[in-house]
Amino acid sequence: MIGIIGAMEEEVEKLTAQMEDVKITQKAGMAFHSGKLCGKRAVVVRSGIGKVNAGICTQILVDLFQIDLVINTGIAGSLNADIDIGDIVLSTDSLQHDVNAVAFGYKPGVIPRMETSVFPADKHLISLAKSSCEKVNPDIHVFEGRVVSGDQFVADSELKQYLLEQFQPMCTEMEGAAIAQAAYLNQIPYLIIRAISDKADGSAQIDYPVFEAAAIQHTVKLVLELCAMLQ
Ligand code: ADE
Repeated sequence: MIGIIGAMEEEVEKLTAQMEDVKITQKAGMAFHSGKLCGKRAVVVRSGIGKVNAGICTQILVDLFQIDLVINTGIAGSLNADIDIGDIVLSTDSLQHDVNAVAFGYKPGVIPRMETSVFPADKHLISLAKSSCEKVNPDIHVFEGRVVSGDQFVADSELKQYLLEQFQPMCTEMEGAAIAQAAYLNQIPYLIIRAISDKADGSAQIDYPVFEAAAIQHTVKLVLELCAMLQ
């Protein structure tokens, strides 16, 4: 069973529209759409925005639907000048940039008393997603790199610079690393797929609504192709 989490209705409704034999299960205020997507058994759900929603959503996917893997799709702010709005980032790993126990001697982003705070994504999923993206979105670029997540919309050059220096990420968003941590704790593979909607600086509030729709189209096409390719 494939678990697919989007943060917002705009992206999720485009995926659920493609599903067959859909059953909707309500839990924790979320509508889990289980059925067939591109011929594969899948559950598609909107987690809502932020890390708590995303973590809860992933655990429900594991407990109620016994998912074998989880894909997180959505949009993100670019932290790399080579990445254009509309391009896609696939996570190589992810972490939570707003975890801070510095007062106890931990580096920023380190979760005390956990073996790791950086969660590697599944290599097979990365490679399948890359080839899927090149096939269905030939007009854009696909990058692989670190995704940092926090309960913050990053729209400030100073914060952007801090994230770059501290974590060397490719993009930032608000759910991926929470899904990654839940996947790690449950020992299932995960991948974050994000289309870039803005540059996470002073122009982010203006760019985001303008480019959101186009960015979502790219991720939806990619997720459908990836789903079809999965065993
Ligand atoms: N999602 C899309 N753009 C973002 C940004 N700049 N910060 C956090 N989440 C985002």
